[in-house]
Amino acid sequence: MLTISDIEELKKSLSVKRKEFRHISLVPTMGNLHDGHLKLVKEASQISDFVCVSVFVNPLQFGPEEDFSSYPRTLDEDIQKLENTECALLFVPEPNELLLDIKTHTADPFLSSILCGKTRKNHFDGVVTIVNKLFELFDPDTTFFGEKDYQQLMIIKEFVSRQSLNVLVKGIPTEREDSGLAKSSRNQYLKDDEKDKATLIYKTLCQVKKSITDSASLDKAINEGIEVLEENSFKVDYLEARSKENLKRSNDLEMTILLCAATINKVRLIDNLVF
Ligand code: PAF
Repeated sequence: MLTISDIEELKKSLSVKRKEFRHISLVPTMGNLHDGHLKLVKEASQISDFVCVSVFVNPLQFGPEEDFSSYPRTLDEDIQKLENTECALLFVPEPNELLLDIKTHTADPFLSSILCGKTRKNHFDGVVTIVNKLFELFDPDTTFFGEKDYQQLMIIKEFVSRQSLNVLVKGIPTEREDSGLAKSSRNQYLKDDEKDKATLIYKTLCQVKKSITDSASLDKAINEGIEVLEENSFKVDYLEARSKENLKRSNDLEMTILLCAATINKVRLIDNLVF
């Protein structure tokens, strides 16, 4: 596996590789890789003969009160994990070089104003700005994102379509612990008892889905879900049912996705469940 930090070196290397390989995939990450990320790499290797991963903790997508400085940076471990995968090129840019003269972009106003966008102002603008920069550098045929960040996935798909970018965006199902807890880099902020408690988010999503399919009213089932989380000391940011196609409100159960963000002891976790 090649590890590159310098942008000129990346460009040179990719121009050679492009002649050698037919299908380039890019898996953008912020590092602290877990099985969810490794699954993206594996999926990429199924359709691509040159799999690239980027590791960059993107300051543009963190608010002033958020965890940019404490976000786990574990490059040595990340490299070790990637060495055992099909990843052929790892890009670890220098922040100053990557962000120099970066062209900023905005996320879709509707998609970025709901759910996480209500409290994380400008977060998704930061995401599309950096993802666009990575697409410019790599010009990948396909790119992979986890469905745990479902809103992010929808925003990136919309951005790619609006900008007519020639890249296929693939969403890959969430990787979970045996307990059901969605794998996330932020899980490592949790103490053992908090991690046990955090499993309640997915359990609640499953219970809300069951109640709704057993014909309870959607609002009632969701309110009961919020109550359960709050009784267990979560601060619930949102628990909502929306259309999995466009994240609008929808009464079509078959198209429904439940999405939740909740904070436990200052650690904000998100998860979702499709019907
Ligand atoms: O999902 C993430 O890890 C980040 O938001 C991404 C897509 C790598 C952009 O920084």
